[in-house]
Amino acid sequence: MVKNTEVKLSAISGDLKKSPADALVIGVAQGPDGPVLLDNPLTAKSAEAVAESLKVLGLTGAADQTHRLPGLPEAGATVLVLAGVGRLASDRKLSEEALRRAAGSAVRQLAGVGTVTLALPTASLADVAAVAEGAAMGAYSFTEYRSATNGLKEPVKNVAILTDFAADNGLKPVLNRAALVGKAVNATRSLVNQPPSHLYPESFADAAKELAKGLPVKVTVWDEKRLEKEGFGGIMGVGKGSARQPRLVKVEYAPSKASAKIALVGKGITFDTGGISIKPAVGMGDMKSDMAGAAVVLNTVLAIAGLGLNVKATAWLCIAENMPSGAAQRPADVLTMFGGKTVEVLNTDAEGRLVMADGIVAASQEYPDAIIDVATLTGAQLIALGNRTAGVMGSDSVTGPLKAAADRAGELVWPMPLPEELRPSLDSEVADLANIGERHGGMMTAAVFLREFVGKGKDGEQIPWAHIDIAGPSFNNGSPYGYTPKQGTGCTVRTLLAYVEDVLTHSAA
Ligand code: BES
Ligand code: MN
Ligand code: ZN
Repeated sequence: MVKNTEVKLSAISGDLKKSPADALVIGVAQGPDGPVLLDNPLTAKSAEAVAESLKVLGLTGAADQTHRLPGLPEAGATVLVLAGVGRLASDRKLSEEALRRAAGSAVRQLAGVGTVTLALPTASLADVAAVAEGAAMGAYSFTEYRSATNGLKEPVKNVAILTDFAADNGLKPVLNRAALVGKAVNATRSLVNQPPSHLYPESFADAAKELAKGLPVKVTVWDEKRLEKEGFGGIMGVGKGSARQPRLVKVEYAPSKASAKIALVGKGITFDTGGISIKPAVGMGDMKSDMAGAAVVLNTVLAIAGLGLNVKATAWLCIAENMPSGAAQRPADVLTMFGGKTVEVLNTDAEGRLVMADGIVAASQEYPDAIIDVATLTGAQLIALGNRTAGVMGSDSVTGPLKAAADRAGELVWPMPLPEELRPSLDSEVADLANIGERHGGMMTAAVFLREFVGKGKDGEQIPWAHIDIAGPSFNNGSPYGYTPKQGTGCTVRTLLAYVEDVLTHSAA
């Protein structure tokens, strides 16, 4: 499981004929009066000829557009690829995210080609980083279950970035980080893409151990006996309708003298049928992706460990399969959650918050500086923010920096409030809380439920906490775009990593 190949990233400068490639990619922007050929390594004469031909080739410079031409002698490549980068910003520059997407889109569309040189304009090391990240995320395809005879195209194997920063001292860590980011995002995608026949709680726990091999992390797995004995009522309640027993997986990276301590909690429903409150048949298959949050927090902690960041990071993967059966929980059942609070389960399809509550209580018991939970929690997230933008809710001291980190990483997240009036809607006739409340603004209602389980820190105050709802953006059932493939997207791995890097920068200052 998770058999991703990793693209090899390098940087080059000077004569392209010395670094031959199958394809050389140059950029075309969408200018006010038509397509504009961006800075490129072609001779002035060739560049002029290419620029002249853009309109007749039907190119506008729109993002995701590509066009292949025979290579030119100076290009050192069999094929020349014109890649759209979209509109330039008002300063006539390309944003880092535009570069990331352009590189990702070109590399993604060149699947089946071995070696690619990217000659996109890079004005800084940060631009090089963006191109490298885009390339690493674009070099992805999920082929584990496809026969070699069925049109299978391997992702691009080698990417060389043509840049003036090729000899810069800072280049090596930049490429190293980009490769690790790509690895973490692609591993998240492949976990999400796994069919539920193959990814179930036990095999997910095994996959976590496998992915952690060789890294300085400790993986602990709670099986159903230990979960039952220790009182993880939420995870057990959701999992008991399945023949496949639930798991809790803790992945700890604890460098000595860490300057901060972060807990990440992820929803790991390997398949969500809804349980007894069963979902309609149409689109139910997408619910194989209901473990995306757990995949995200797992791979984020592994990336933090891989980078050797000076922060203690613990991922809690709350894993169960939500199935209807004679053993399943019923609407009106009451669960005793980890930590002792009781919950009346009025809808078994609101299962994510039940497993997450246990994970948040467990995380709280270790007094982290902050808890961030990531979950494909509500359909209401899609109604509120759409397919591509994750919702973030919780303590201002965490949601603010998270939004800033997402902006830096090039991911779409948007802060939403937690209005007090939602809390009474979760009151139960028989237990401490009900698992459903106000339907309107249901993404926020779910977050208000989770907040009830965030523990107090050593100072007696609630531990700073944020919840990220990735129901929409974690799974792309539309067309691929930029570096984003169909199905699992790996979204918010980069945001969380950037958040941790920012926390470190500030705590060192
Ligand atoms: N896993 C779903 C949420 C979801 C919906 C994720 C669409 C991705 C795409 C979650 O467990 C769920 O079923 N939530 C219910 C909650 C409701 C019963 C309060 C929902 O959103 O309908
Ligand atoms: Mn559900
Ligand atoms: Zn769910």
